[in-house]
Amino acid sequence: MKKKNFVVDKETHKQLVHAEKMLALGELGAGIAHEINNPLCCISNYLQLLLMSEEKLDNEMLVCLKSMMNSANRIKEIVNNFLNFVRTVDERKEKSSLNINSILDATASQVETLEHFKNVRIIKKYYPEIPAIKCNRNQIMEAFLNLFNNAKDAMPGGGRLYIKTEPHNNSIRVIIKDTGVGIKGKNIDKIFDPFFTTKRLGEGTGLGLTATYGIILNHSGNIQVESQVGKGTSFIIDLPIN
Ligand SMILES: Nc1ncnc2c1ncn2[C@@H]1O[C@H](COP(=O)(O)OP(=O)(O)OP(=O)(O)O)[C@@H](O)[C@H]1O
Ligand SMILES: [Mg+2]
Repeated sequence: MKKKNFVVDKETHKQLVHAEKMLALGELGAGIAHEINNPLCCISNYLQLLLMSEEKLDNEMLVCLKSMMNSANRIKEIVNNFLNFVRTVDERKEKSSLNINSILDATASQVETLEHFKNVRIIKKYYPEIPAIKCNRNQIMEAFLNLFNNAKDAMPGGGRLYIKTEPHNNSIRVIIKDTGVGIKGKNIDKIFDPFFTTKRLGEGTGLGLTATYGIILNHSGNIQVESQVGKGTSFIIDLPIN
């Protein structure tokens, strides 16, 4: 039998190594997350029990217990976010032929009325006769939602969010561009890593882009980022037509 030699270019190799790293991290993380859940439930159940007899506790103790409860809830949130991410990578959820412009519209309409988005101007530049792609609507909406939220966070004083679609080779290209703070060079290779965040404690878990990466991977797509500090950031997503 003849052996075939596959020549993989440097960029594809980098992406494959990254994809493998993400899957390995996902598996490891899921194991740890499950292990954390049991003792965590025990801690929060006892805390709840103690807080039920509020009248017997002095003020200082009450403040401490409430703070412990908040922290326990925060751990729960992080663990659940992580398990959600692992599920997105693992599950081969149902896919149907859909119009990406409509999915972008539906996602944009979920955020444009929110208070946080009031200073964000959304500018759509859709390719009109865009071919349908096979995808899972909820997953793709979640991926776009993460990108829209990050763009909003990058523009605390307001700005513009461009959403563009166009055919590109055998794919549909979606470009989500903001006029925000941009990403520092030293961080750009880390943004898709689980738990990488530059946001303050309680404002970000660093899982949004990890989940987005997993979703695009699950659709055999590709996601790239271009950013300039002080000017803004573009996320470029290619989703294959077939
Ligand atoms: N559009 C953007 N502009 C500037 N920085 C960004 C942008 N998108 C992502 N980042 C950077 O990448 C980091 C990771 O993003 P990611 O969405 O994974 O996590 P997060 O937004 O910090 O938290 P989470 O999404 O879990 O609430 C962000 O903390 C931020 O530093
Ligand atoms: Mg985010």
